[in-house]
Amino acid sequence: MSNKFGIYIHIPFCKTICPFCNFNVYLSSSADYDELVSFLLDELRTKSVLFSDKKLVSIHFGGGTPSLLPPRLLKKILNQIERLFLVESDCEIALEINPYDNEVEEPVLFKDLGINRLSVGIQSFNNKKLKILGRNSTKESNLYFIRKISDCGFTNLSFDFIFGVDKESLKEWEEELLHLKELDIQHVSTYCLTIEKSTAFWKMRDRGDIVEVSDNIFLDMMDLTKKQLNQIGIEQYEISNYSKPLYESRHNLLYWNSDSYLGIGPGAHSSLIDIEEGKYYRWSNPKSIKQYGKLLSLKSDTLINHSLGIREYIKDTFMMGLRLKKGVNIESLNLVSSFSINQRIIDELTKQHLIVNKDNNLALTDTGFNVSNEVIFRVIDNIDFIDD
Ligand SMILES: C[S@@+](CC[C@H](N)C(=O)[O-])C[C@H]1O[C@@H](n2cnc3c(N)ncnc32)[C@H](O)[C@@H]1O
Ligand code: SF4
Repeated sequence: MSNKFGIYIHIPFCKTICPFCNFNVYLSSSADYDELVSFLLDELRTKSVLFSDKKLVSIHFGGGTPSLLPPRLLKKILNQIERLFLVESDCEIALEINPYDNEVEEPVLFKDLGINRLSVGIQSFNNKKLKILGRNSTKESNLYFIRKISDCGFTNLSFDFIFGVDKESLKEWEEELLHLKELDIQHVSTYCLTIEKSTAFWKMRDRGDIVEVSDNIFLDMMDLTKKQLNQIGIEQYEISNYSKPLYESRHNLLYWNSDSYLGIGPGAHSSLIDIEEGKYYRWSNPKSIKQYGKLLSLKSDTLINHSLGIREYIKDTFMMGLRLKKGVNIESLNLVSSFSINQRIIDELTKQHLIVNKDNNLALTDTGFNVSNEVIFRVIDNIDFIDD
């Protein structure tokens, strides 16, 4: 709804493929980084015209393992962005980085390029769990890596963790969280393991070699995470995300607040909102690098393949916005479209302590967060559009 946007750049290569990962990734042994970057520069150029009236507030290098990209190529991408877009002076420039010491260039080189936020895939401080997750790291190497990036002067650090892995106990998860007390970090993302189709874990589960934690342990782990992180001043602001004040991920907030974003690279998604025109465009690039390159060479707008109406925008805004602790402001959305949410459903969910509707602002409660998918779908399924 606003005049800002972010750019996501997908670098789809990893040294090894983790057994739980279902992202669009390929082995880096097959990578041609120069070719990929020439595609990315091309796509930035062709799409820049669509975002020419918006201010760029975040750039996010995600993957895959974008920290494998040689700094000279990162620099080319950043230079291209600076040439083509209106970049805000305090633009968040984030890089996802794997804490494998043998795989990264000196992190200080990233800092010199202007990267001001690192999102580190720590995943765990438990060696047994790191092994199950197929990570090339240990608790000791993770802690060493954290010291190394802190020493480079990065002051906006985020760590990713996965919990609920196999027979993991509440006590084991608590021990991992305790490590955070000793570290100077600003943001934590904690994801409950999902066993996705077409991953190695999927087959392992079929064979009985790995199990998912029970719902009860999952809920206890969520509760414990909140408590432990609150004690060190890191508060939940989204279902899986916690931060110190003002250190929320600006980039992910664009997604959750249904702002515009441009996704560059194979499999990347984009969203462009033009409220006055009543248009909401969404598109995604082909996942295969070859297909992506082919389509780009057509030099047309064929990549923009999905124009949705404002009703879809409203539904998506609830879908993403209810993931945030602050929820969704119905009044401001009503300026865009006339709709209401079935009062009987609101009353029912309120009575069950799953949502709070205060001053026309709808938000999930802590209990609601524990069953967020069900609650969010009940809200969306009960939106009545009055007219358009
Ligand atoms: C884009 S991914 C990978 C970032 C980086 N390549 C890494 O592995 O450190 C972002 C995060 O999603 C989480 N993730 C990926 N697959 C998951 C799964 N199946 N279940 C739960 N979390 C997952 C991991 O915590 C991961 O760090
Ligand atoms: S979790 Fe990260 S390192 Fe592992 S395969 Fe997925 S993107 Fe690559």
